Amino acid sequence: MKVIRIVQSMTDARTIAPASGRLGILMPGLGAVASTLIAGVMKARSDGSDPIGSVSQMAHIRLGTREENRNPLIREFVPLADLNDLVFGGWDPLSPNALEAARTSGVMSDADLAPLSGELEGVVAMDAVFEQRWVSRIDGVRVKEETNKFEQAEALMADIERFREENQCDRLVMVWCASTEAYQEASDVHRSIDSFEAGLKDNDDNISPSQIYAYAALMSGVPFANGAPNLTVDLPCIEELAKREGVPIAGKDFKTGQTLMKTLISPGLKSRMLGVRGWYSTNILGNRDGEVLDAPENFLTKETSKLGVLDTILQPETYPSLYGDIEHKVRIDYYPPRGDDKEGWDNIDIFGWLGYPMQIKINFLCRDSILAAPIVLDLALFMDLANRAGESGIQEWLSFYFKAPQAGPAGPEHDIFIQQTKLKNTLREWMGEQPVTHSEAG
Ligand SMILES: NC(=O)c1ccc[n+]([C@@H]2O[C@H](COP(=O)([O-])OP(=O)(O)OC[C@H]3O[C@@H](n4cnc5c(N)ncnc54)[C@H](O)[C@@H]3O)[C@@H](O)[C@H]2O)c1
Repeated sequence: MKVIRIVQSMTDARTIAPASGRLGILMPGLGAVASTLIAGVMKARSDGSDPIGSVSQMAHIRLGTREENRNPLIREFVPLADLNDLVFGGWDPLSPNALEAARTSGVMSDADLAPLSGELEGVVAMDAVFEQRWVSRIDGVRVKEETNKFEQAEALMADIERFREENQCDRLVMVWCASTEAYQEASDVHRSIDSFEAGLKDNDDNISPSQIYAYAALMSGVPFANGAPNLTVDLPCIEELAKREGVPIAGKDFKTGQTLMKTLISPGLKSRMLGVRGWYSTNILGNRDGEVLDAPENFLTKETSKLGVLDTILQPETYPSLYGDIEHKVRIDYYPPRGDDKEGWDNIDIFGWLGYPMQIKINFLCRDSILAAPIVLDLALFMDLANRAGESGIQEWLSFYFKAPQAGPAGPEHDIFIQQTKLKNTLREWMGEQPVTHSEAG
């Protein structure tokens, strides 16, 4: 019998506007993560250093069947902004500029910073929309004078336009790299655009600074990604606004460190149907992020984001005997001597054949901002791509980068390997290529 294999390699490609001109990356929060991103991009531009950890810059993407042997770099396959065309800006209530932020955070060595110091100093922080009730451990000094929240939003929109003009940017994206705000649940004021705008004018207590930045970004046609776990774009009013204005949004909480490990290990255990009885995670962290998270109301925001991961990957309702009774604990302790070099310990109690118990111990000595910086770069470039591809609203295909991915009604996907496939297949489809299914046929 003759087997006929039909290979259909092309679908209809999206019309994507070219990445011509300059792309401005605006970051509320010029702290450790933002300054490490900016310095890293400047270093890559000046001495050709590899942007390690950046999927948009370093990863290849397979096209068609394996026999076709087409495997370009992602950045050569999709029209992304070039690193040489990026301009950086931001707001911060403490850091005066990116150089001071980099020195204070101590992530990069003086030797690495020295050749970039003039350029880093040129990234000057704009005055922040800041309210201490949301970040009790920070006493902001470079803060906007406006006290009415609607006027604060207008002031941010004016900043955005001024930045666009002064830096001759063709396009802008905003990525929240500021401190984690105190825990909050959505309230009435977040129900719709109308109620949110009324709340801004009435100085509603439930509107946090990050929500004001998001509103200002979307009203200015600027895509917004949220790198922290606070309630910012995962709100009905902001989702409605993103759709109305035709702008992409994504969140939340960069997936680095311990949660990255969790989303690498747990799908592996599940793929072999090994049971999990308990997962105890603890961290020590000595940077400003650690200090902010030392306040219980801010830690609660982080804890909620970190705890959601296991349930979604392990599906206890589908596999009650394997994952129905997991003790999952997450701790973070502020320990100043450690600086940005976080240390995480995981103790995982698993069980196998006949219920026999086993243990896995992970001790991850990571550098938080070194892991986060390439994520900010990828998010900025991909959010800009999505905008040029005519996308608006939640960008689920970027779940790969987040601890608590914002998703549609079906809920988030946490398994990093499924997230990676979704990201790459989305790019393939936009460019008129067939998704790769990894089936025997291809
Ligand atoms: N580094 C990681 O691996 C990682 C992972 C996930 C999430 N995050 C989140 O990313 C954020 C940044 O982390 P970091 O290590 O750079 O922290 P950081 O403390 O070094 O920097 C945060 C900066 O935000 C500023 N800030 C606070 N409120 C602000 C406001 N309203 N407007 C503008 N700026 C404001 C602070 O002054 C500070 O300079 C944190 O929320 C952190 O939880 C980091």
